[in-house]
Amino acid sequence: MKQAEIIIDGTTYAFPIIEGTEGEKAIDITALRDKTGHITLDVGYQNTGSCLSAITYIDGEKGILRYRGYPIEELAEKSSFTETAHLLVYGHLPSPEERKVFSQRLTENSMIHEEMIRFFDSFPLKAHPMAILSTMVNALTVYYPEFFTVDFESDTFDIMAARLISKIRTIAAYSHKHSIGEPFVYPRHDYPYCTNFLYMMFDSPVHPYEVDPDIEKVLNILLILHADHEQNCSTSTVRLVGSSMVNLYSSICAGICALWGPLHGGANQEVIDMLKNIQKDGMTPKQCMEAAKDRSNSFRLFGFGHRVYKSYDPRAKILKTLCDAMVAKLGVKEPLIDIALELERLALEDEFFREKKLYPNVDFYSGILYRLIGIPTNMYTVMFAIGRLPGWIAQWKEMHDTKPFRIGRPRQIYTGPSLKRYEDE
Ligand code: SDX
Repeated sequence: MKQAEIIIDGTTYAFPIIEGTEGEKAIDITALRDKTGHITLDVGYQNTGSCLSAITYIDGEKGILRYRGYPIEELAEKSSFTETAHLLVYGHLPSPEERKVFSQRLTENSMIHEEMIRFFDSFPLKAHPMAILSTMVNALTVYYPEFFTVDFESDTFDIMAARLISKIRTIAAYSHKHSIGEPFVYPRHDYPYCTNFLYMMFDSPVHPYEVDPDIEKVLNILLILHADHEQNCSTSTVRLVGSSMVNLYSSICAGICALWGPLHGGANQEVIDMLKNIQKDGMTPKQCMEAAKDRSNSFRLFGFGHRVYKSYDPRAKILKTLCDAMVAKLGVKEPLIDIALELERLALEDEFFREKKLYPNVDFYSGILYRLIGIPTNMYTVMFAIGRLPGWIAQWKEMHDTKPFRIGRPRQIYTGPSLKRYEDE
């Protein structure tokens, strides 16, 4: 076992170096404070591993992303979202029997409790669908209290996981129908996952919606590409909240809230707003670039940059190709694509962006695809949440399977006032 040595005040302390499957290395500092009385400080956890995980592998320099060892390029081409969800949660591609059971569970859990539908009467029409989603997901604990406890002995976890993966899609579609004042469309037992979602989103008594298989395929790919991404902000939130032994629904609710932020999953909506602003002559792509480089303002080029990818996000590569294919298939003009391509060209040629290794990330092209499918802009992050849900569930389960199980509780360095007496005031 290789070791790292730290010398403090002339004393040498040794700590084991551990190595991952693909050669990533870490200094295991579990005993650091006991041995040295010191902690580490790593704001934003840029250099800190929170766990060992066998779910997703990312190589940020080479632009590699694999779920349980399978490259996402192959899963995007050959798998379906529900099959990939099974792979992430259970660690293997489903056998025909497992596929049947998983699919049956998703179908049985596709409706939401009729009393929960009444929640929508209280939401304003303009309520942001991410606020609705987080509310409704946590409300599942009210309707299924038997799942408060965390139990992996019975099929409790399997039912909770399938219920969430299925119902998140229904809640999302209902939030859209609520916002446009149309009647809710109930899920069908004979439709596969993505077909059912599109059906619930766009069918109506006066405009029957015929699901286009090509669009259904694109939606499967979008959800597959979003399905997991190791210890990102929202996944780390799900793990940290889940480490208090709270139930799965409340842990996922916390992840949905973390994902909503514009620096994270909320970026896909920001990208489209940014592209629309350029289109409306709010600013030229060049001005957009200059604003993004100006440190005196908070403007960011949304859809660019990444904590881990210091090369082109492999998901963005696939989505960019899909955009062209979708425009060709629909035979429409989508001016936002031209603006996005111009922004990308300028950024990839720009010294500032090259020096900081800022490349397009998953959010840069995903919004354009959602727009081409007809999904409203304020639902893009909801789509991200639907895709990411199996990853959150898989990571939450892996955390519970890890022994010894520990509640997450980081330390700090205190910089406030030293001891003060009340009577001194
Ligand atoms: C997702 O972690 C994941 O895996 C997330 C995700 C997933 O699948 O879960 O991949 C999904 O969240 C993708 C990222 C979506 N967010 C955006 O597109 C928002 C714009 N991007 C940035 O805010 C930023 O790049 C982050 C938040 C994505 C990454 O932030 P980091 O790693 O903390 O990097 P940083 O903010 O420290 O930036 C390093 C430098 C800074 O300049 P300096 O302060 O050193 O001078 O690069 C600059 C930043 O100002 N910078 C940008 C920029 N991104 C970074 N400048 C302009 N535009 C940008 N987009």
